[in-house]
Amino acid sequence: MDGSKLYLLPKLPYDYKALAPLISEEQLTLHHTKHHQAYVIGANAVLEKLDKSRKENGDLDMKATLKELSFHVGGYRLHTLFWENLAPAGKGGGGVPKGELAKAIDAEYGSFVRFKKEFTQAASSTEGSGWAVLTHCMTTNRLFIMQLEKHNVNAIPGFRILMALDVWEHAYYLDYKNDRAKFIESFWNIVNWDEVNKRLVSHLKK
Ligand SMILES: [Fe+2]
Repeated sequence: MDGSKLYLLPKLPYDYKALAPLISEEQLTLHHTKHHQAYVIGANAVLEKLDKSRKENGDLDMKATLKELSFHVGGYRLHTLFWENLAPAGKGGGGVPKGELAKAIDAEYGSFVRFKKEFTQAASSTEGSGWAVLTHCMTTNRLFIMQLEKHNVNAIPGFRILMALDVWEHAYYLDYKNDRAKFIESFWNIVNWDEVNKRLVSHLKK
C-alpha cells in the first residue's frame, strides 16, 4: 500500500522469461503489462468516479458502477493471486503439493490425481471467460473448486482463494491458440505449491 488509495500493478515474482516455454515471454509480458494493467486502470477509474461523485454529492448509476468495480477489482485480485501461485518449472513450480495442503487434498479428494482431474475438468468447462480456483470453506473445513465466470460471477463471498488459474483466452492464446487443454496441462508444471500451501496455512490460522 502506498497511501494513494488506488491500485498499482504488482511486480511479477519472477522475470518475463522465467515460465517459458510453458508461458512464453511475449505471452506473459502481454498478459501482465496489458491485461492485468487494464484492470488496475479500470478499478482506479471507478474509484475516482466514486470519489468525485461523493465530493460533488452527485448521482451515479450505483448498480452499473459497482458491477464495473467488482469486475476490475476481481480481475486485479485474481491476476495477482495467479502470478504468485506460479513459479518456474522445476524451480518451485510443478511437482506435487506438500504439507497441510497435501493433507487437505487427500482428505477431500482421496488423492492428488483425483484432485488434479477435478480441477482440470473445472478449468476445461468454465464457460466463456473465466477462472478455475481452489478455495476453502471454514464452515465445513473442506476444499472447494469453483468456476469464476468473468471475474465477478458465481463467486462465493468470503471463501479464501488458495490457487487460481486464468483460463481467459488472453492467458494462453499466443502460445496455445484455442488449445486450452494443453495450457491447463502446462499449468501443472508451474504451480507454486509452497505458495498455495502457505495461503492455506495462514487462512486456517485466522
Ligand atoms: Fe488474464
